[in-house]
Amino acid sequence: MKNVLVTGGAGFIGSNFIHYLLQTESDIKVVNYDALTYAGNLDSLADVADDPRYHFIHGNICDEAQVNSALKERQIDTIVHFAAESHVDRSILGPRQFIETNVLGTFTMLEAARAYWIKEKGQLLDRVRFHHVSTDEVFGSLKPGEPAWTEQTPYAPNSPYAASKASSDHLVRAYGHTYGLPYTITNCSNNYGPYQFPEKLIPVIILNALEGKPLPVYGDGQQIRDWLHVEDHCEAIHLVLKKGENGSTYNIGGENQPANLTIVETICDILDEIQPNAAYVPHRRLIQFVTDRPGHDRRYDMDTHKISAELGWRPRHTLKQGLLDTVQWYLSHPEWVAAIRQKQEYKGWMDANYKSR
Ligand code: NAD
Ligand code: TYD
Repeated sequence: MKNVLVTGGAGFIGSNFIHYLLQTESDIKVVNYDALTYAGNLDSLADVADDPRYHFIHGNICDEAQVNSALKERQIDTIVHFAAESHVDRSILGPRQFIETNVLGTFTMLEAARAYWIKEKGQLLDRVRFHHVSTDEVFGSLKPGEPAWTEQTPYAPNSPYAASKASSDHLVRAYGHTYGLPYTITNCSNNYGPYQFPEKLIPVIILNALEGKPLPVYGDGQQIRDWLHVEDHCEAIHLVLKKGENGSTYNIGGENQPANLTIVETICDILDEIQPNAAYVPHRRLIQFVTDRPGHDRRYDMDTHKISAELGWRPRHTLKQGLLDTVQWYLSHPEWVAAIRQKQEYKGWMDANYKSR
């Protein structure tokens, strides 16, 4: 792993991963390949922009010619593929972009990797890797008492987002099986932490609470996610790149499964504690139940025995500490938040998603 191409490196997890790689590996070159959609933000990488080991390419994963030349020019041996449309609510209101980016974009990345690594440089196959970042949402939804998902659980995606990610996972597997493309896949649960785009649950709640705005909880708030701190996720991906077996998939989860309402209440309590004189204490009074998401998955739970037994990984963050750190991060990065929230695209989305609820 010398020359790594990170797709979607200007997004939430990608930017955290680039920070993690540059901190962990001294002898590495990292290329961030990102189209800078609404979710891409180079401010998240301002501190590494001048690092000689880091290089940014403004490019779309659907642009085969540009991907081909990035791989060749930068002599890429490792692709870590994060780039995607990632928000379930957006996939409900506008699914087409999810098929284009997540399915066709992944297909394009695979074709480019095959062209460069297999057709041109077959002899180096033991030194290259296509790592695909996927989601637990491909498994569908669990009923109360059903066991957690393992790597063997059949796929049953429910949202257009989940279906597009499932399709991309199948394509990656098929390229490994048919063409011998070296790959690994990780399916992770809901991430949270620094640099998360402020339309996902946790930043929406933190930022609305700070401003005394309603805290929107979909349906009864009893949906369960398996919350994973983004730094734990980055550590897991790094381990899979280093030690994961070619052709393997690994589940990554946070070992934290509170209901959404509990997450929201915990954030309110944290804010009450660290800002006891704020105008909106107790923040819980801002909670507002709103119309549910159509087809809303009820419960996710990841069985992470495989990555734990094979690679020795376990999440380090407790949810309480992770949420406290995340609240502190948003409090200490008002410019990062303001730059996003002043954009028309952002305001338009918040209106489209919440006004009719
Ligand atoms: P994000 O939406 O914050 O960032 C996505 C990034 O991809 C952005 O920088 C965007 O500009 C870029 N991008 C989008 N379309 C592109 C294109 N056509 N070409 C090049 N770049 C493009 O996403 P995230 O939350 O960081 O998620 C990263 C990956 O992890 C995704 O594949 C997502 O499916 C997966 N994942 C995320 C979560 C989570 O909780 N955030 C959970 C499970 C899996
Ligand atoms: P989200 O952060 O959009 O992630 P995902 O849909 O990929 O799980 O949402 C997390 C959970 O929070 C999900 O069950 C939907 C719920 N939710 C709300 O209750 N209110 C909100 O305003 C948002 C954005 C999400």
